[in-house]
Amino acid sequence: MNSKVSSHYAASTACNAVRVTQEIVTGNKRKLYVESYGCQMNFADSEIVTAIMQKQGFDLTASHDQADVIFLNTCAIRDKAEQTIRRRLAQFNQIKNKKPGLIIGVLGCMAERLKTKLLEEEKVVDLVAGPDAYRDLPQLVQKVDGGHKAVNTLLSREETYADINPVRLNSNGVTAFISIMRGCNNMCSFCVVPFTRGRERSRNPQSIVQEAQTLFQQGYREVTLLGQNVDSYQWSPHTAHTEKEVIRKGAAAEMVNFAQLLAQVAQVHPDLRVRFSTSHPKDMTDDVLYTMKAYDNICKYIHLPVQSGNTRILQLMNRTYDRDWYLRRIEAIRSILGEACGVSSDMIAGFCSETETEHQDTLSLMEAVQYDFAYMFYYSERPGTLAARKYKDDVSLAVKKRRLAEIIAKQRAHSLAQHQKAIGQEYQVLIEGPSKRSKEYLQGRNSANKVVIFPEGTYQKGQYVTVRIKDCTAATLLGEVVAAA
Ligand code: SAH
Ligand code: SF4
Ligand code: F3S
Repeated sequence: MNSKVSSHYAASTACNAVRVTQEIVTGNKRKLYVESYGCQMNFADSEIVTAIMQKQGFDLTASHDQADVIFLNTCAIRDKAEQTIRRRLAQFNQIKNKKPGLIIGVLGCMAERLKTKLLEEEKVVDLVAGPDAYRDLPQLVQKVDGGHKAVNTLLSREETYADINPVRLNSNGVTAFISIMRGCNNMCSFCVVPFTRGRERSRNPQSIVQEAQTLFQQGYREVTLLGQNVDSYQWSPHTAHTEKEVIRKGAAAEMVNFAQLLAQVAQVHPDLRVRFSTSHPKDMTDDVLYTMKAYDNICKYIHLPVQSGNTRILQLMNRTYDRDWYLRRIEAIRSILGEACGVSSDMIAGFCSETETEHQDTLSLMEAVQYDFAYMFYYSERPGTLAARKYKDDVSLAVKKRRLAEIIAKQRAHSLAQHQKAIGQEYQVLIEGPSKRSKEYLQGRNSANKVVIFPEGTYQKGQYVTVRIKDCTAATLLGEVVAAA
């Protein structure tokens, strides 16, 4: 996988771009260049977009200079993410000045949020397509070819792109993402996702299992099941009907929940690791934890974003759990899966009206949980969200930044302490490829999602090895292979 792809398989929302670094040449006449921002779901969407465009006569280029069409698959989660994209659009604008036929399209969440505004404000944009409009891309491009601007930001209640075989981008050939659902029905007051991705819908489990089988046959050894809230995955053959109707018609037995889906994917092959992201603390059931326990190949790692350690703030955030409930979920993880299960989180510093004491509650919760890893942000007000409409964004930027720095410092210390505990331990590691630091080293991850680096020896990517840990940093474990499968 490209070095710009986060090595952590949580719903990473870092603002950095994932530029497609691979050429796909099949003799198609026109060339597409794709850049993705935001979370893994967006990245997985770019793989669907590429598949759709390839069918439509586009080869993939790794260089925007050679492109006939440039797609930016955008993120709207924080203001910073949108600023990054605006700067990038300005750069592409300059290229377009020299190459008038170039088509520039904005896809994804920022496209959905701003809709036609992007065409009006940013003269450089020719095409705008929201996350549920990708099947329409060929027609939209055609419209632009015909000299018009093109927009489709319709959200759907059904679209899951289940039948589209994604073109794997920047792939290491070992790990891949599988989208299992789209949208989000939670209304966390700070969050723009329900507006940009629409209503939650689950993808047909058969198509998910089939995708996992195909990946395994192609040599992949790890799949990450993706959704904004995977624990609320619920598929019924009668999704168009209400739940009551389904039960009355006796179809309940055919319904598939997340724990059942996990088991089905785990059964594809014992050598295929299964990960998932993201879990919502209000929905993560013991059933899921017992399923994880029952299958060795379901990785013992849970990304369980807390957002805040204070109950009043959690209420304002509309997270629908409180501090105690969250801590009880952590207890359940530890009692069912043991200490070896990795746990990570997302935290927001300086949400509306957060006091110093309430910020301290986040720090004390971190102390209680001892996360292995976390994505940490300061609050960024998003237009149209409940928080933007109801609460004042009244914590100053300086205070937000200072609180965030405290959260980051604590997490760094915890990550290092967790890693130090690993010294002397042995872990099964799936090799993903050369280490980013040195070609003489390989890297992979253990079940708990920790990055492990070790001398290359004669080992190959895609292979499972047992590594004894000898040293560590806050980000990685270093060791040597003691056994190979
Ligand atoms: N569905 C996932 C999160 C998706 S967004 C979940 O519920 O956990 C990823 C992370 O971005 C969130 O967990 C949150 O920590 C952060 N985030 C979302 N909106 C934000 C905002 N307005 N300001 C700062 N951080 C935000
Ligand atoms: Fe946003 Fe909350 Fe949905 Fe996550 S669960 S995507 S934070 S609304
Ligand atoms: Fe993902 Fe950003 Fe959209 S985090 S869902 S790409 S707003």
